[in-house]
Order: sequence, then C-alpha cells, then structure tokens
Amino acid sequence: MGVTIVGAQLGDEGKGKFADIYSETADVIVRFQGGNNAGHTVVANGEEFKLHHVPSGVLRGGTGVIGNGCVVDPGVLLEELDGLEERGVDADVRIAERAHVIMPYHRVIDGVEEDAKGDMAAGTTGRGIGPTYEDKVGRRGVRVLDLLKPDALREKLEYVVPTKRALVEDVFGIEVNGTEHGEAFDVDAVHEEYVEYGERLRDDIVNASEYVNDRMDAGDAVLFEGAQGTSLDIDHGIYPYLTSSNTTVGGACTGAGVGATRLEETVGIMKAYLSRVGTGPLPTELENDVGDHLVEVGNEYGTTTGRRRRVGWFDLPMVRHAARLNDFTGGVLTSIDVLEGLDPVRVCEAYELDGETLDSMPADMDDWARCEPVYQEFDGWDGVDWDAVETYDDIPKEAREYVEYLEDEIGAPFYAVSVGPDREQTITRTDPFK
Ligand code: IMP
Repeated sequence: MGVTIVGAQLGDEGKGKFADIYSETADVIVRFQGGNNAGHTVVANGEEFKLHHVPSGVLRGGTGVIGNGCVVDPGVLLEELDGLEERGVDADVRIAERAHVIMPYHRVIDGVEEDAKGDMAAGTTGRGIGPTYEDKVGRRGVRVLDLLKPDALREKLEYVVPTKRALVEDVFGIEVNGTEHGEAFDVDAVHEEYVEYGERLRDDIVNASEYVNDRMDAGDAVLFEGAQGTSLDIDHGIYPYLTSSNTTVGGACTGAGVGATRLEETVGIMKAYLSRVGTGPLPTELENDVGDHLVEVGNEYGTTTGRRRRVGWFDLPMVRHAARLNDFTGGVLTSIDVLEGLDPVRVCEAYELDGETLDSMPADMDDWARCEPVYQEFDGWDGVDWDAVETYDDIPKEAREYVEYLEDEIGAPFYAVSVGPDREQTITRTDPFK
C-alpha cells in the first residue's frame, strides 16, 4: 500500500509531524524529491531531532529511502547519520544509485547566482539544490553511483569543474582562487572528498525503484514523503520563486520509480493560514499585528535557515490549484490553534484581477502580484484548552465552521486536524493506511 503526503501550499505545512505519525504504520519511508533544503524537526522519545536528508520515519524503526528524484549532499547525509548513531538510533537508510549529488561548486553557484539575480532571486536555502538539478537536466551531473567509480568521477570532474569555475569567474566576475570558494573548484580536493563519501555510503546504495517495488510486492506499507509544497513545484508553482523539483504527486512516481497505480492515497497537508520563506508576491500577506501574531504563536521561523517566515491568510485559489494537480484523496489541516484569538478569521476565497474573479492561481507572477484577495470572514475562537481537545467535537463550533468550509471548497475530507505541534495534539478522523 502506498500513501503519499504532499504540501498543498508553500512548504512548512506540517508534513514532518504527519510523516512521523504515518511512519508508525509505514515500513518504508521514501523521499522522492528535493534535498537538504527540507528540514523536519521531530521529537521522539523526548528528544528533538532535526533532519534534512534522512526521512524522519527512521526514528520509528522504518527503512528510509532517498529516491532517485532527490539531490544528495553526502557530507550532510553522513553527518546526520553519525548524529543519529551517537544518540543511539541505528538508522536504516538506502540511497538511490541514480540520485544526483550536490557538489561543493553547486553550493557556491547557488549563492553567487542568487546575489546576481536581483528581483528574480527565489530566496533559496543556499544548499546548492537548483544548480544540482540544472546539471542533472544538462546531463553533466554526478550521480550517487559515480562516487563508487573513482576514475569515471575524476574524468567527469575534469570536464565539469573548469566550466563551473569559468561561470563564477568570467560570468559573475568572482575570483575563486585563494578565497573561501577555492576548494570547491579544486578537482583533486573534491575528488578525494567525494570518493571517501562513496566508500562510507557504499553498502547503502541501491536500485531504489527495485527496492521500493519489492517491499510493496511483499505487502509492506510505504509512505512517500513529499518535501516543500505544491506552489514550489518547478512546473506548477510560482515560477521563478520556487524550488527545482516536482513537489506534486507525480514527483513520487518519477522520483521513486513507482507506477501511478501504486499510490492509492494522496494526502494534502495544509496549514490553516499561509507561510512562506523566500521572495516573490504573496497576495494574502499580512504585514501587521495579525501577521506578528501568526509568526509568534506559530513559531514561524525556518527549520533550515532560521529565517522569519512571511505569513498570510489561507489562500483558496492556491489550494484549489493544489487539489486539482494532486487529486487529493484526503487532506490534513494543521495549526488551527495558531488562529486562536484572531477575530475575524479570514480566508481568501477568490482573487479579483482586471475586473475578473479568479478561483485559481494565475501562472504569470506579474498577474499574481496584482491579484486582490476577496475574503470570506469567519467568527474567531478563543480561550480553548487545546490539551483537553480529544475529538473533533471538542474544538469550538467557530473553528469547526472554518474547517468544514475549507473541506467543502477543496473537495476532499480532512483525515486529520492538528491543534498543536506534538503528536498527541492531533484529531485523527481517518487513517490513510487503513
Ligand atoms: P531551494 O529549494 O533552496 O532552491 O529554494 C527555492 C525556494 O524554495 C526558496 O524560495 C526557498 O525558500 C523555498 N524552499 C525550499 N525548501 C523549502 C522548504 O522545505 N520549506 C519552505 N520553503 C522552501
């Protein structure tokens, strides 16, 4: 059985918490896109773990798979695995031989290009994600399997590294020799470092598609754990202010090597308001007291970069777009507790643009920037003892009205409503694995 979880907005919807909850059932947890731009904070056995590459489900004893659609920074991955081992977690992780490797020059280029791009900059996490995917598509990337072939790796580096150096020095006008960037463009140093990574990871490198399909054939439950969110999808998102992979459910097929019919459930995780790290327009953005409330109560600071997130009201045209693209069989609504104390609570139900009403997002970001939100207002809720909330009926009537309005508009039932960061602060209505 395969269950996919996908972010319905702009990332940070609370996927980590539900990856953790669903990992209790899942035998295998597969990341299928992205890299260490993602960040999950999971509390297990009273200890806090921050994971970027390793699927958080390994903390519950499942096997973590880093699929071919991911980009892997092996130094970061090994550091995470070592950190887990030091804390007594013997993580079972497999890495796709076909996944692409984030090289030191990718990290440098990520930063240099962002600085040069001005208004076109996406506000990346600076981890080298975009430049690595560029090389993948340009058919000059280093794949995980190349780390096990020192001679072939050297040959590739001898071709690629001078072109990257020329890009940085001649196009962007930044000298690398004798600077902090020097080592990233030194073929010998990079080769030595990455061959060593290959040796350390050798036993965990597999044909991940074969591995995942075999486990499914054997009757195991598999969770496909999406990273980032639908509006950051390279094809369907807010181009160019997005990430470089397919964050939507189709990414699970290509990025894990499984057929579409193996993904029985697609669960859209969405936050009861909107948050964003990165640049670009955001029609429902709140730069006022309400925004401060959402940031402080919702602790809206990035897990990977620590940046204060931008926040806004729930944007239905964005989530309708996500529901269509992913065909959610169910949803999960997170952070409804954070809205407590706000009155009214608003939802953007449509946009006005040039005298027309739009109920889905435009593709053109200049248009999106000019969209005026049309708000629906709801009575707020206050004074709730969230710790005492056990069933759906325990949450205030006003909050239920909000939840049910969203459910109707999205056209999929909420399988769960999250009322706080802890596992226990979850109202489960349907288990997608059952
Ligand atoms: P990149 O993925 O580092 O290239 O960043 C591209 C865009 O996606 C930037 O706007 C980032 O802030 C955003 N982004 C990347 N990963 C995440 C995430 O895990 N959560 C939220 N936003 C993300």
